[in-house]
Amino acid sequence: EKKQYFVHSLLAWFRAYQRDLPWRRTKDPYRIWVSEIMLQQTRVDTVIPYYERFLERFPTVEALADAPEEEVLKLWEGLGYYSRARNLQSAVREVRDTYNGVVPDDRQHFSSLKGVGPYTTGAVLSIAYNRPEPAVDGNVMRVLSRYFLIEEDIMKGSTRAHMEHLIREMIPHDAAGDFNQALMELGALICTPKSPQCLVCPVMEQCTGRLEGKEEQLPIKKKA
Ligand code: ADE
Repeated sequence: EKKQYFVHSLLAWFRAYQRDLPWRRTKDPYRIWVSEIMLQQTRVDTVIPYYERFLERFPTVEALADAPEEEVLKLWEGLGYYSRARNLQSAVREVRDTYNGVVPDDRQHFSSLKGVGPYTTGAVLSIAYNRPEPAVDGNVMRVLSRYFLIEEDIMKGSTRAHMEHLIREMIPHDAAGDFNQALMELGALICTPKSPQCLVCPVMEQCTGRLEGKEEQLPIKKKA
């Protein structure tokens, strides 16, 4: 069936072709969290050296919580969107003070931390703790809108809810982090906004957007 084919083909592809990225060599929730915050408005290639330097200087929740804010901002210089760094440090201080330094492993507690939205919550909980939570960003919406031919405006909350529902139906409980990262990776490497590489896509044969010749018109994004 279409969903099961998607899950298995995508996971097999990800395991064979995923990029070797520094945050894929750890399950430390703090490190995954730092990577997801940095990756929110910044490209992978730019993030890598910042991620390495940041974690060398602040290797743990405690190290970041105890640091002077100016030192944190200094290491963030060049990444932009400095509120990300300030929010991350307040959130990490809350983890130190309220959760004994342990990053919460459930949606209610983690998503109430400063600067943490639904995407970051799903990404960290699935990748670090293997919780079956969706992590829907722009890449993921593009992949799902094409494969399932979802012709809804991605600016609408109901469209995001639809995608989260689909992911909850599909996400393997023993490979939640890999599945979410496979969706992101397909969107980054193959199912790109322009000229997607459908001929080498692991799920092309069941992709409804492609079968209808609409892949380049998706996702639908109405002007705000
Ligand atoms: N973009 C957002 N999260 C990512 C991840 N974990 N790996 C690669 N790109 C990403």
